[in-house]
Amino acid sequence: MNKKVVLAYSGGLDTSVIIKWLTNRGYDVVAYMADVGQESDFETYKKRALKTGAVKVLVEDLKKEFVNDFVFKSLKAGAVYESGYLLATALSRPIIAKGLVETAHKEKAGYVAHGCTGKGNDQVRFEVSVGALDPSLKILAPVREWELRTRQEEIDYAKKNNIPIDTTKKKPYSIDLNLWGISIESGKLEDPYFEPDEDTYYLTKGINKAKAEPVYVEIEFKSGIPVKLNGKAMDGVSLILKLAKMAGDAGVGRSDMIENRLVGIKSREIYEAPAAWTLHTAHKALESLVLDREVLHFKETVSLKYAELTYYGLWYTPLKEALDRFVDETQKPVNGTVRVKLHKGHCVVVGRKSPYSLYKKELATYEKGDKFDQSLAKGFIQIWGLPYKGSHKK
Ligand code: ARG
Repeated sequence: MNKKVVLAYSGGLDTSVIIKWLTNRGYDVVAYMADVGQESDFETYKKRALKTGAVKVLVEDLKKEFVNDFVFKSLKAGAVYESGYLLATALSRPIIAKGLVETAHKEKAGYVAHGCTGKGNDQVRFEVSVGALDPSLKILAPVREWELRTRQEEIDYAKKNNIPIDTTKKKPYSIDLNLWGISIESGKLEDPYFEPDEDTYYLTKGINKAKAEPVYVEIEFKSGIPVKLNGKAMDGVSLILKLAKMAGDAGVGRSDMIENRLVGIKSREIYEAPAAWTLHTAHKALESLVLDREVLHFKETVSLKYAELTYYGLWYTPLKEALDRFVDETQKPVNGTVRVKLHKGHCVVVGRKSPYSLYKKELATYEKGDKFDQSLAKGFIQIWGLPYKGSHKK
């Protein structure tokens, strides 16, 4: 087999060192950069990769596909991992894996490579996804295998091999950013009792700095997908970017959690997902208006499972695909508008309306015009409670 490898390249220290390390071992390295909204300086990194020895660098704009085929599926499913993580990083891995596989086919490469460590979830997501898409590709994970034990040893290796790296002050944390949110970890955050400084955060203002006045946003959904913001029709990417700024300025979307990784360890994670939290909150509010009780309750278990599958790297699997079909069926009536108030870290639903609303004022009202026949309740309760007469024995 030829020794051509497509590397998921970020431009950072690890993947820059990987280019050299693989080149030194006789591989032709194609550096592949997927743009999922991480706002990287792609031009600089492109030059850096070539200078380091890559035979080719490819930058692919996947933002639209990321939003439509990954982020919005997760939004419709209501997926949240362990109550605090809207899965921004986890959702980006299967689409990057798809990009790697397609590029390997175009470039006639027999290998793909990534820069994940052996302790995280991302190695699992990349490798399981690549394997699901093309099991004949071989996967290389140099960071898991190489002799470079510490960051300092990597920096020394980079210097010795003339690999251009950022000379600016080392960032205190490891971050992963995309359109849906940011994951922040390591460094001082490894102490679970340590409160992150304000400058830990990228996308959200702290309560003290957040706007004093509340901001109202109206979000219109069509089949579970947000299509308008404050009455203006927008594509998904623009809508998310616009809303992220509004919600982030209001301090909405932070979480600080101890999370269970797939590889069995607990880790401290800080997340910011201002647009994601606002859309998730609004979407749920609309669902409670238009879905009947049984669908709504059953869907809660689906949401949990969907989040697990996404987190566990099982995106391209039969259960995940079957759940998508179920979710799409439930989203048919999820059309309407939700009004949300963003204020000092809070995202509060203050109104919802839909042509598919199941809310019937004439049944719910305690005022004039009540159509609920209260006399029927007596018989209902007798039958409902029949199996339980005397059931509680001390
Ligand atoms: N714990 C998150 C996940 O498994 C984020 C991982 C990437 N985080 C980072 N800071 N590089 O999805």
